[in-house]
Amino acid sequence: MNTTLNAMHTIRQHAPDLHPRVAVVLGSGWGGLTDHLTGAIQFPYSDLPGFPQPSVAGHSGTLWLGHIGAQPVAVMSGRKHGYETGAVDGMAEPLRVLKSIGCHTLVQTNAAGSLRPDMPPQSLMLISDHLNLPQRSPLVGQLGSERFVNMVEAYDPELNRLAAQVAQAQGTTLFEGVYAWFLGPQFETPAEIRMARLLGADAVGMSTVPETILARHLGLRVLALSFITNLGAGMSAEHLSHAHTLDQAQAGSAKASRLLADIVAQLP
Ligand code: HPA
Repeated sequence: MNTTLNAMHTIRQHAPDLHPRVAVVLGSGWGGLTDHLTGAIQFPYSDLPGFPQPSVAGHSGTLWLGHIGAQPVAVMSGRKHGYETGAVDGMAEPLRVLKSIGCHTLVQTNAAGSLRPDMPPQSLMLISDHLNLPQRSPLVGQLGSERFVNMVEAYDPELNRLAAQVAQAQGTTLFEGVYAWFLGPQFETPAEIRMARLLGADAVGMSTVPETILARHLGLRVLALSFITNLGAGMSAEHLSHAHTLDQAQAGSAKASRLLADIVAQLP
C-alpha cells in the first residue's frame, strides 16, 4: 500500500490539476494516441514506484496525464507481460495507482493475431469476452471474498455499444469477438490456432487478460480493442515475428489511434 501512496503522491505533486477518470493502456499499434493528448504531463515509469520497467521493443515506459477532447485521462505507454518473468500480476500496482487517482474505467489495447479469414491484418476488433487459456490469475494469493470476481460482462456491454457507435459514425469498420490469451512469448503452433478457433476465439494475443481480471477486482469498467497484425499461425504463408507485428502495427497506427481517441473522448 505504501508503494501505491508513493506513486500517487508523485503524480499529485506534479499534476495537481489533472484528475483522470479514464485509464488507457497502449499496446503495439496504439502508441499514436499520445498525439491526441492535450496539456499532457509525462512520468517515466522509473519515477513511479511499482510501475514496470518494460523490456519489450516497441513498448516505452511512460505514464501520461492530460486530456483527450474534454476527457481527463491517464495513458500508460508500456505494460508488463506475463511472458517477461512468468508473473502475471505485473500490472497490479499501476492499476491500483490509477484507481487511487480517480480512474473508474480502463481502456486496454493490444496487437493480436486473427483467427478469422474475414478479419485480415489491419482490422480493428472490440473484445467482447476472453479465454484465459493459461488459466493463470493475477489474483492468486489475494485474500477476502472480493477475489472471487464475477467475469460475466467483464468487457462492459454499455461501453462496447458506445465504441461500436463511434466507429460507425467515423466510418471505421470495427469487428467484435473473443480474445484468447496465450502466455507466449513464442507464437502459437498451427495446432494451437486450430484449437483456439474450435474453442470459439476470434483473435489470439499475449496480454490484456490479466489486466482485465485485475481491473474487475478493483471495480473498474473495462473496454478493450485489438489491432490485428496477422492471421494466426498456419493460416497464411506469412512468417510471424515481433518485427512483423511492429511493422503492421506501425502501418495502421493513425487509423487505430483516431478511433481510440474518439471512443475515449466520448466515454461516460
Ligand atoms: N499471436 C500472439 N500474439 C500476437 C499475435 C499472434 O499471432 N499477433 C500479434 N500478437
